[in-house]
Amino acid sequence: MLTLTWYGHATWMVEIEGTKVLIDPFFSGNPLAPVEASEVCADYIIVTHGHGDHVGDTVALARRCGATVIANFEIVNWLRQHGLERLHAQHIGGGFHHPFGYVKLTIAVHGSSMPDGRYGGMPAGVLIRSGQGTVYHAGDTGLFASMQLIGDEGIDVALLPIGDNYTMGPDDALRAVKLLRPRFVCPMHYDTWPPIAQDAAAWAARVEAETESQPVLLQPGERFRL
Ligand code: NI
Ligand code: MN
Repeated sequence: MLTLTWYGHATWMVEIEGTKVLIDPFFSGNPLAPVEASEVCADYIIVTHGHGDHVGDTVALARRCGATVIANFEIVNWLRQHGLERLHAQHIGGGFHHPFGYVKLTIAVHGSSMPDGRYGGMPAGVLIRSGQGTVYHAGDTGLFASMQLIGDEGIDVALLPIGDNYTMGPDDALRAVKLLRPRFVCPMHYDTWPPIAQDAAAWAARVEAETESQPVLLQPGERFRL
């Protein structure tokens, strides 16, 4: 069984056959987060890039839960200097068979400085392939044509930013859906702050009308079972 829980912004819990994989754990300072970081635990944490709204509570959560953090080489080095030891470095284009599934870091068109300003390497998207389904978390990104190639891998659920300003907005995210061709698509990275306020229901209606993909609109704290 594969379930996805949205905690607002780009924060998702992916549960695959009982293994909890938390992506971009941003709870403290996230106005949409329905729970505190201290109420959540995970076996693995995946960080897409170095920005504070994605690294979020990674250090505290990983330390408390004993989670292994998967991220690019530069972010892993930064986390090691912040006291974490269970770390797995990968990089763009590289995949690895973790116990819960195959995780590949994909390109994202964005920045990746760490919260203290240090270089965080290239920003990434994440493709998780498992026997229970394939999930693509786009990270923070603008539209890029090779989403077509990522789509060729056969995506069950795509998690896409629609907020505009820092990432793709609704128009480009709709074009992304057409390139990625997922069975289901969930919008994210919107409504957290005024500059990224969006009408997600209107976007979902356009996905429904103009693509073959099924939009899934979650409220923060809601879960979707594949
Ligand atoms: Ni960012
Ligand atoms: Mn962001």
